[in-house]
Amino acid sequence: MSERKPPSPKSEVRALRAEIREHDRRYYLLDSPTLSDTEYDRLVARLQALEAAHPELDAPDSPTQRVGGGLSSDFKPVKHAAPMLSLDNAYEEADIRAWDERVRKNLGAFGAPAYLVEPKIDGLSCALTYEDGLLVRAATRGDGETGEEVTANARAIRSIPLRLSGKPPKRLEVRGEVSMTFEVFDAVNEAEKLAGREPFVNPRNCAAGSLRQKDPRVTASRRLRFTAHSYGVWDGVEPASHSEFLGLCREFGIPSNPYERCADIDAVVAYHRRFREALMPKLAYAVDGLVVKVDSFAQRRRLGFTARSPRWAIAFKYPAQQATSVVKAVEFSVGRTGAITPVAKVEPVFCAGVTISSVTLHNFSEIARLGVRVGDRVLIERAGEVIPKVVKVMEKAKKGVDIVPPKNCPGCRAPAVKEEGLVAYRCDNPSCPAQLRRTLEHFASRPAMDVAGLGDSAVDQLVARGIVKDVADLYALTKEQLLDLELFAAKKADNLLERIAASKSKTLDRVLFALGIRHVGEKTAEILAERFDIDRLLNASVKDFQSAPDVGPVVAESLQAFFSCSAGRALVARLQAAGLTMKQPQKKAAAGSPFAGMTFVFTGELSSCTREDAEEKVKSLGGKSSGSISGKTSFVVAGEAAGSKLGKALTLGVKVLTEDEFKRMLP
Ligand code: IVH
Repeated sequence: MSERKPPSPKSEVRALRAEIREHDRRYYLLDSPTLSDTEYDRLVARLQALEAAHPELDAPDSPTQRVGGGLSSDFKPVKHAAPMLSLDNAYEEADIRAWDERVRKNLGAFGAPAYLVEPKIDGLSCALTYEDGLLVRAATRGDGETGEEVTANARAIRSIPLRLSGKPPKRLEVRGEVSMTFEVFDAVNEAEKLAGREPFVNPRNCAAGSLRQKDPRVTASRRLRFTAHSYGVWDGVEPASHSEFLGLCREFGIPSNPYERCADIDAVVAYHRRFREALMPKLAYAVDGLVVKVDSFAQRRRLGFTARSPRWAIAFKYPAQQATSVVKAVEFSVGRTGAITPVAKVEPVFCAGVTISSVTLHNFSEIARLGVRVGDRVLIERAGEVIPKVVKVMEKAKKGVDIVPPKNCPGCRAPAVKEEGLVAYRCDNPSCPAQLRRTLEHFASRPAMDVAGLGDSAVDQLVARGIVKDVADLYALTKEQLLDLELFAAKKADNLLERIAASKSKTLDRVLFALGIRHVGEKTAEILAERFDIDRLLNASVKDFQSAPDVGPVVAESLQAFFSCSAGRALVARLQAAGLTMKQPQKKAAAGSPFAGMTFVFTGELSSCTREDAEEKVKSLGGKSSGSISGKTSFVVAGEAAGSKLGKALTLGVKVLTEDEFKRMLP
């Protein structure tokens, strides 16, 4: 057997460079890396060793140039070929509609504009100049006229191609945003703290600090992202529209912004809302709004610029999502399952459209992680509609007070029990009034029995006076009892009694959800109600429960425990006696194959079922599912912590659904 000849250094270097470039492309452009960081670093190290041994093989666009080690000089000033302008801001729907009016008026006979809407990434602007496809210079925005040269550091950013692919123009100055993911930001800050340095306030500051480093190796370690959004110079046949520009960026290997095409301003307004509610909370990086741009360059030329900014684009911002405030006290709140959660009471502060005075601290491990004490100034974040949380301590109080675990349940004074192996404390008293209040709130909530009018104050009084000891007691309430409560007028009492009576005919799935059985959410309740009537529920074994789709052993155990224990059975009997019908209408059989011809990709963690189950469901309805996104994908369903695939979907313009939207598509 003849032995294979080892490759020549020249061919190995060439192969390694190609391989590393391909991994850079997968990592930054496709968002789907196939190598671990260590494996990647090993390839780069091997290439560095070969180049060191064979200096004749050096090349300015070798991936090793990214970590070349040469010190970046003192950031020489660079005059931009064309000024780097800023954008006007719109905060309200009225502002964006007024802008649209102006655009349409100025365009007149030039036709109605189509808009492209992109995330406004919260980073810093950077201009990259390519000559004959090679990166020759990078500059920060500076004052818009003159920036700082950061070429050596830009070379260290893997998402910035050192050499363009495709057929780029002779000279191209592409502009974009340098940013950092939350994950990298957290990791950098951990390291800063360990090194005894002050952590960065937000990912943007951290990205800026990382780009303006003396040592490009530090920049390299910070894993910055570059996302193109415009260009300053295009020496060749220019694209005719922004969408064409973005398409060409992809061809050249430059990561560009994902976008949504909107035919008119109504669509922009709707997307702005949808983006904040469904997409923004899942993004891996900070976005502070959207940028709305006229797509056609001919129309843009017609519109022109004001002194500061283009007339053809505007930033449609979201209100600040973060704010700082001082922790005044820590209180404990008891959930309906008895979990005791520490809640920081803070100086009221306006953030993301609401005034916040309570912020969850989750548990004691979180308190330790944050190192927070009463008196500290903290950074608060409100993402989407979720409960605000403390991100970090901004300023330690000189005389801060430690937060100590509760000894007793704040609702009933029973001893607070530390859960074995867990970081939570709980109250195990089954007749704890605080738990009962939460139970009643849940029972009356809209997705459960939908008893509007049973507000906090009424619940508090009914529980405190011992009138309501469990949810079934609600059905025995009389008008006299209600009129006896503070702030309860006759009309209000009548309304509430009507709503309570109306809730008796709620379907079984609602009742099951309303009962607050541990691990039984809306979806599980629905699945169960479609398969079991109330008599079967009362007699089912763990195995029976598990035979239902999406019901695992934990949920099945919990169900069986509830329906077999005497308290659970008695409660069901009392609700039946009160007149609850607990019936489930049969669903009509799905006609045909509603998902025929559609391909779904699931990403992130789904809350109501496993990914396999969702894929199974799609198949049963005539659709296909796939593990990767392509032009053929009809929908991407983004669950919790959906990361890279979401970005790719946005880039390819594939429709992204939240889990709820997907559920609503099911027959
Ligand atoms: S377009 C004339 N698109 O926001 C400027 N800018 O206040 C055209 N930014 O300095 C820029 N995301 O660095 C554009 N998708 C996006 C952007 C974006 C972030 C930054 C940009 C600029 C600032 C404008």
